[in-house]
Amino acid sequence: MKKNIDENSIDLIFADPPYNLSGANLELKNNNTGGAFYKVNEKWDTFNYEDYVQFTFDWIEASKKVLKENGSIYISCTHHNIGEILIVAKKLNLKLNNILTWYKTNAMPNITKRTYTHSTEFVCWFVKGKNWVFNYDVVKKFNPNKTKDGNFKQMRDFLDFIEIPIVQGKERIKLENGRAAHPTQKPEKLIELIILASSNENSIVLDPFFGTGTTGVVAEKYNRKWIGIEKNIEYINIAEGRLSLLNQQLQF
Ligand SMILES: C[S@@+](CC[C@H](N)C(=O)[O-])C[C@H]1O[C@@H](n2cnc3c(N)ncnc32)[C@H](O)[C@@H]1O
Repeated sequence: MKKNIDENSIDLIFADPPYNLSGANLELKNNNTGGAFYKVNEKWDTFNYEDYVQFTFDWIEASKKVLKENGSIYISCTHHNIGEILIVAKKLNLKLNNILTWYKTNAMPNITKRTYTHSTEFVCWFVKGKNWVFNYDVVKKFNPNKTKDGNFKQMRDFLDFIEIPIVQGKERIKLENGRAAHPTQKPEKLIELIILASSNENSIVLDPFFGTGTTGVVAEKYNRKWIGIEKNIEYINIAEGRLSLLNQQLQF
């Protein structure tokens, strides 16, 4: 990122990094990836703790460098890695504006019955300077509640909270054998909220952990320029296929 992207050139970063949830201790008996639920047990998601903290520091520091002064960086996480992200961002002097909660309406059932059912992920919104972009009038359209005359409501009852199912059906990118192409594909609606809220047409959006290219797809739909970084060639091929299909559809 440091070598290939100019400093202070990016308007918005959406980062969905490895959460460091995988590893030897993860019990994956009856793994149903490709079916109703998707579990993550990937090499790219496996670090020892010290390496994970260093990795988190390195990529957030590099992201801050390429971000414009009025830019925003949104980082998705769960309760497992939110601590590291918040500490690193604080060290790097990024200001935390909000923590969005994504409520997964079709989250995995509580199999162990030893904790409350996990049904949320978070997206931390950090800014570098004071003049960040926030398109309030666009965001307010995400409020499912309308006024009595059918208009969009103010944000009073649309909070830093959004309900979206885990990606399924036609939106889920599948391999030929029917299994999910990627274990952590993010819902387009979540990225739509972020891109529409914190960027404008022709803004440059960067995703340093591109996966299946969800950020690129949403950026294309809303006339943003985008850059995606991904280290796994199979995911790059999947993202390329997904984006070229979208471009064919957009031409009609
Ligand atoms: C949580 S997934 C992102 C999924 C993506 N948001 C989507 O909707 O498909 C993280 C991705 O980061 C990639 N990755 C991990 N370490 C990386 C690195 N150092 N540089 C670039 N990509 C990396 C993984 O291969 C994986 O596809």
